[in-house]
Amino acid sequence: MERLDKILSNLGYGSRKEIKALVKAGGVVVDDKVVKDNGLQLDPEKSKIVINGEEIFYRKYIYLMMNKPDGVISATFDNRDETVIDLLYIEHQAFEPFPVGRLDKDTVGLLLITNDGELNHKLISPKWHVDKVYYAEIDKAVNEQDIKAFEKGIVLDDGYECMSAKLEIEESTEEGSKVLVTVQEGKYHQVKRMFEAVGKKVVYLRRIKFGNLPLDESLKEGEYRELTEEELNVLINC
Ligand code: URA
Repeated sequence: MERLDKILSNLGYGSRKEIKALVKAGGVVVDDKVVKDNGLQLDPEKSKIVINGEEIFYRKYIYLMMNKPDGVISATFDNRDETVIDLLYIEHQAFEPFPVGRLDKDTVGLLLITNDGELNHKLISPKWHVDKVYYAEIDKAVNEQDIKAFEKGIVLDDGYECMSAKLEIEESTEEGSKVLVTVQEGKYHQVKRMFEAVGKKVVYLRRIKFGNLPLDESLKEGEYRELTEEELNVLINC
C-alpha cells in the first residue's frame, strides 16, 4: 500500500502540493469514487486510478531501448554534456531511470535504460555471460591472427585479461575494415582497447545487439521506445 499523492508524484503528475490541489478540485477518481483524501492508502497495481477523466497506466518499472546518438553521455547527470536521460520525455524521467552499462560519448546504437536495479545487475555482470555485439570500423586490415587473439583473450594496457571474444570480419583492406565483435563484459573503452592491443584503432563503434535483443533499426539516433513485453521476456531470459 502507498499514499495516493506519492504514487502520482512518482509517476510525474506533479508535486505533492499540486496533487493535493488536484484532489481537492475533484480531479482524481479511485475505483470509481471521487477521492477527497490525497493521503489515501492504496495498492496501485490493483486499483483503477482516473485523473481528469483519463485512466492512468501504472507500472513500477520502465524498460526503454534507445538508439544512442554520438556526443551524448551514458549517465544520469553531467555538469557539461547532455546525457541520455536528458533525451527522455518528462513522463519517463519521472521513473528515475538509468542506463544499463555505458557506451562511450562517441559510441552509437543500442542502449537500454531502466529503473529495474535487479535486471540491470544481471545484464551487466560478466558472470551471466550476456553477449553484447558491436559493429566496428577499424583503421587497418583486420586478419585471422586478430580473430585468434580475440578468441584467446586480449590483455589490455593495464594488464587486465579479457574473456574470450568473437571477432568476425565483414570486409578487410589496408585502408580499413568492417567487423563484428561480441563481448560478454563491459570494461571501460573495452572494444577500443582490445583493438589497440593488436595495434589498430576503432574509428566508428555501434552496438547492434544486447543479449538476444537486436537494435530496432527503425529508431533514428536519439530516438527511443519502450520494450514490448515479448522483448522484455527475451532480455530476462538471455
Ligand atoms: N567498447 C568501447 O570501447 N566503447 C563502448 O562504448 C562500448 C564498448
